[in-house]
Amino acid sequence: MKAIVLHQVTEPEALHLEEVADPTPEQGEVVVRLRAASLNHRDLNICQGQYAGLRFPIIPGSDGVGEIAAIGTAVEGWKVGDAVIINPSLDWGDDPHVQGPTWRILGLPDNGTFAELVKVPASAIYPRPAGLTDEQAAALPLAGLTAYRATVTRGEVQSSDTVLITGIGGGVATFALLIAKYMGARVSVTSGSYDKIERACSLGADEGYNYKTTDWVKAVRSFTNGKGPDLIIDSTGGRTFEQALDAVRPGGRVVSYGATTGITPELTVRRVYWKQLNVRGSTMGSPADFRGMLSLFGENGLRPVVDKVFPLAEAGATLRYMGQAAQFGKIVLRVSATT
Ligand SMILES: NC(=O)c1ccc[n+]([C@@H]2O[C@H](COP(=O)([O-])OP(=O)(O)OC[C@H]3O[C@@H](n4cnc5c(N)ncnc54)[C@H](OP(=O)(O)O)[C@@H]3O)[C@@H](O)[C@H]2O)c1
Repeated sequence: MKAIVLHQVTEPEALHLEEVADPTPEQGEVVVRLRAASLNHRDLNICQGQYAGLRFPIIPGSDGVGEIAAIGTAVEGWKVGDAVIINPSLDWGDDPHVQGPTWRILGLPDNGTFAELVKVPASAIYPRPAGLTDEQAAALPLAGLTAYRATVTRGEVQSSDTVLITGIGGGVATFALLIAKYMGARVSVTSGSYDKIERACSLGADEGYNYKTTDWVKAVRSFTNGKGPDLIIDSTGGRTFEQALDAVRPGGRVVSYGATTGITPELTVRRVYWKQLNVRGSTMGSPADFRGMLSLFGENGLRPVVDKVFPLAEAGATLRYMGQAAQFGKIVLRVSATT
């Protein structure tokens, strides 16, 4: 098969398609012939060596949809040709509150979806949601799952809530917006781009602030009659996380699932206890979260936002494009056209 193989830490432009051996399924595994895959910030971090547990060679990529190409022993309920979507949150474990010791994300250490074929545990495949294009379906797994857990399971979003989502151009953030609006909440967003704020408003956001030019803490307070939002969902980290603790209403919830801009240089602990805040971490999600996310998308449900579609062969340049944060929504790789 053809695949994008990472042999060492490198700049993304160095990546190209290579011929590698087809994977063969072992007990409890299936091989999926991919139609489309999508990019996550993680793939870029792995490529540039900013990720724990690197090993080489590795085929990156966590998201994929396709058809079952081969089935290992002791797999029931599936047949070759079934259309499937892959849950990249592998081997979550028994506790819905937290992942277990063998939990891992598809695409490191297991070979991922930037390939024509991928081998996964049979427990990671689900029937592909109907009514979505290959590209829309491929956009769902990692970002949709992360957004669902952050917004619904950990964020406990309510229809009476005002929710603030930071960095709305991000792949996960756009899913969080769709989900929070679906749940009936009022949603504010921040972005470094007026264009992205406009696009978020066209998806249902009630208002937005440019974090480069506006004091968004002050602005969102005034939007909520001086109170502050009930729930803030942040993946920016850095100074934004500290600002989120300031902006949220007393007794409110702040969910953190990332730190794109790095560590938070100053954290006012007094703010956390004095305001009786609920600060909650969230990572990927359990099988129940994945099923919950899938139930919202498809035939009569939500549609993921796809920014651009590139051929698999251009994965390197596509990762660079993601690094420039020019996208709004998910960047997708078309795989089947390469075969
Ligand atoms: N814990 C988990 O399970 C999990 C899962 C997925 C992702 N993550 C993490 O979550 C983060 C986002 O991932 P992604 O794939 O959605 O990334 P992405 O699509 O590359 O989005 C990153 C976004 O961050 C925003 N941003 C940058 N600087 C900002 C600032 N100063 N204030 C506010 N927003 C800022 C930008 O939004 P604008 O363009 O609108 O300015 C940008 O589009 C990454 O750090 C990733 O590692 C964690």
